[in-house]
Amino acid sequence: MIFSQVRKRWEKNARLDPMWAILAQPSKEKGGWDTEAFFETGRRSLESALDRVGISFIGAPFERALDFGCGMGRISQALAAHGRQVHGVDISGEMVRLAEQFNQFPASCQYHHNPASDLGLFPSEYFDFVYCVIVLQHMPPSLMKGYLKEFLRVLSRKGKILVQIPAQRSQATWQDHCKDWLRPWLPIDFADRLRLRKRADVPILEMYGLTRSQVKECIENNGGEILRVESDKHAGPAWTSYTYLIGRR
Ligand SMILES: C[S@@+](CC[C@H](N)C(=O)[O-])C[C@H]1O[C@@H](n2cnc3c(N)ncnc32)[C@H](O)[C@@H]1O
Repeated sequence: MIFSQVRKRWEKNARLDPMWAILAQPSKEKGGWDTEAFFETGRRSLESALDRVGISFIGAPFERALDFGCGMGRISQALAAHGRQVHGVDISGEMVRLAEQFNQFPASCQYHHNPASDLGLFPSEYFDFVYCVIVLQHMPPSLMKGYLKEFLRVLSRKGKILVQIPAQRSQATWQDHCKDWLRPWLPIDFADRLRLRKRADVPILEMYGLTRSQVKECIENNGGEILRVESDKHAGPAWTSYTYLIGRR
């Protein structure tokens, strides 16, 4: 039930305004992103994330990387410069169609539509690098934990996972507290139903978090270990967010 609501939400977001649903800068709403500028943010964002956790592929390219929640391929296109094979996976068929349309490296970069709550399309220990930034923050914790488990399953013995997850709100209004309290009992698409008609053409981006101790517990219960944690600004000013570098124990 939760999964099908997340899927429906992203299929709708991808049709309304895909670039803004991926990078929601206020000035770029309603088709305001320039494609070249949009893909350039992917190169910069990847470099800064790798830098933050101390990963360099110079002289040691990856064999096979997974870009989970690839959207239009903003990050996988940048990743393609650092290794041999990139697999981008997304829940939305429309996002995958757009990623294929903008794919400049068809020989080394492939996209997969994966409307599933697992990564059953890949065998175990298949990837030596898993990247997932600004994706898990938009799904309820039960789904986040399931994918973290899957990231560890598809990770090779010496592979690394770089994943970003918000922990909690850093500023919360009374409306936020009410919303957080009610959320477990409401369907995910409740916000879509309440939305004012004049905002009906703007993607909805709900935010969720997992505390650092919840992430640690989930990783350790599934045979992984956290190698490094760095705070980041991916979830915006209202959330405390972290980028984790994870390996297998
Ligand atoms: C905010 S966008 C980020 C896209 C990309 N990672 C980037 O940084 O350009 C989130 C993406 O995650 C995808 N997504 C959300 N839930 C997913 C899931 N359960 N499985 C795979 N992709 C998912 C959405 O369709 C969307 O393309």
